[in-house]
Amino acid sequence: MSTELIRIFDTTLRDGEQSPGCSMNLSEKLTLARQLERLGVDVIEAGFPIASNGDFESVQAIANELKATQVCGLARTGSADIMRAAEALEHAASPRIHTFIATSDIHLEHKLRMSREQVLEEVGRAVEQARGYVDDVEFSAEDATRSDPDYLVEVFDTAIAAGARTCNVPDTVGYTQPAEYATLIRLLRERVTGAQDVVFAVHCHDDLGLAVANSLSAVLAGARQVECTVNGIGERAGNTSMEEVVMAIKTRRDVYGTVESNLVTTEIYATSRMLSSIIGVSVQPNKAIVGDNAFAHEAGIHQDGVLKAPITYEILTPQSIGRPSNELVLGKHSGRHAFRDRLAELGFELEGADFQLAFERFKDLADKKKTIFNEDIEAIVADSAMQTEERFEVEDLSILSGTFASPSATVSLRVDGERVKADAQGIGPVDAVFKAIAELTETKSELERYQVNAITGGMDALGEVSVTVSEDGRKVIGHGAHPDIIVASAKAYVHALNKLAWHKRQHTISEPKGI
Ligand code: KIV
Ligand code: ZN
Repeated sequence: MSTELIRIFDTTLRDGEQSPGCSMNLSEKLTLARQLERLGVDVIEAGFPIASNGDFESVQAIANELKATQVCGLARTGSADIMRAAEALEHAASPRIHTFIATSDIHLEHKLRMSREQVLEEVGRAVEQARGYVDDVEFSAEDATRSDPDYLVEVFDTAIAAGARTCNVPDTVGYTQPAEYATLIRLLRERVTGAQDVVFAVHCHDDLGLAVANSLSAVLAGARQVECTVNGIGERAGNTSMEEVVMAIKTRRDVYGTVESNLVTTEIYATSRMLSSIIGVSVQPNKAIVGDNAFAHEAGIHQDGVLKAPITYEILTPQSIGRPSNELVLGKHSGRHAFRDRLAELGFELEGADFQLAFERFKDLADKKKTIFNEDIEAIVADSAMQTEERFEVEDLSILSGTFASPSATVSLRVDGERVKADAQGIGPVDAVFKAIAELTETKSELERYQVNAITGGMDALGEVSVTVSEDGRKVIGHGAHPDIIVASAKAYVHALNKLAWHKRQHTISEPKGI
């Protein structure tokens, strides 16, 4: 029986990265892009090149490196947007330009202030321009699900006539319902001229909690590209969660028939964990497929059933998504080989100096802590990756605090390579350390959120701190991990300030990228 491919278009690095607190720097994006390639996604939407120099550089770096996966850059229909996307993708093995414009009357009237005819002209012109640079052009009708279907037919007729190969029907505001979305996809496939020669794509947001259901319903109606993100991150309530769509199709072959994705599903868990550790946003414990409790059977009656026959309560296995056993015992006697193997299982391929740095950190930690868990290793790798592109580095710190002393801290940092030191007092030791760091870095940012987690259990648990800071409307999250929570806090704060410094170096050449 021949299979029909459902393309997985991953937009974690574009739509996902747009959501507050999910921004990533260049090396973080490259690390994730490499993992997405291992995962086998068909297309990676690597960014929105005109939005900032940072986005441009990320798309360019990813496009220059990936060979198996198609790399896509987003562009509005304006000529400058398309030129910038083409420039970023110039050396890609398999480039795609994704251009979009809104098509609902609501957007035409209130946002674009354009007539339907003007939008049609813009669609034709933009797709034609993009085809001048690359063979593979995708066109999206933003807010398609609130657009007049008759007009949508004209829009896609125009896009296809101009050379689009993929027609995306986004549910931009997460408004549609499964049956309604399927009807729309069917209508477009029946009425758009040339529909049989293009792929219809779906792109859903989760405002009503239906992004995955809507995407799957559209697949049943003939859509053959699903746009999604790892862990479902994205604007507002998020985008369609990639792992949920892929595992639903794989688990329910009786429903989806011959439709199959190219995904190496055993890489799903590593990808999910990698994203969480990069952006510092964990998935909720009960999240389908990748949540901590997704495979944990708590109720006695369930445990009994699973022990007798897993099929009683288990519709998919942890192994099918590459979930490693959690009782990994790495300790101070574990060597490079064991460490490298474990890194690979978790989806990290570190070489040369990066591997050496992570290994040294692992050994340091193993001296302080008996058992090293997967989460500890992820924190070590994230922490090592954070060492790149940094202006500020924590050198030493000491604190005085307790019931008698008023909390004070002495902190030494390297600022642009130069050693500087400051003392400060605070209402607690963390406050004192942060005040000293703020003085040394001369930051104008505001501290918005401070969160401490014990990454693994036990009194010797590695503590992970996440710190959210904002400046000039940009919000970033920094992370730090260390057995001493005050040191972890200092590292997290400095990591966040490094991210802000990185963003400041990127000169924004267009309006903010909110879509
Ligand atoms: O949600 C949306 O409409 C988008 C488009 C750019 C595809 O992200
Ligand atoms: Zn979107």
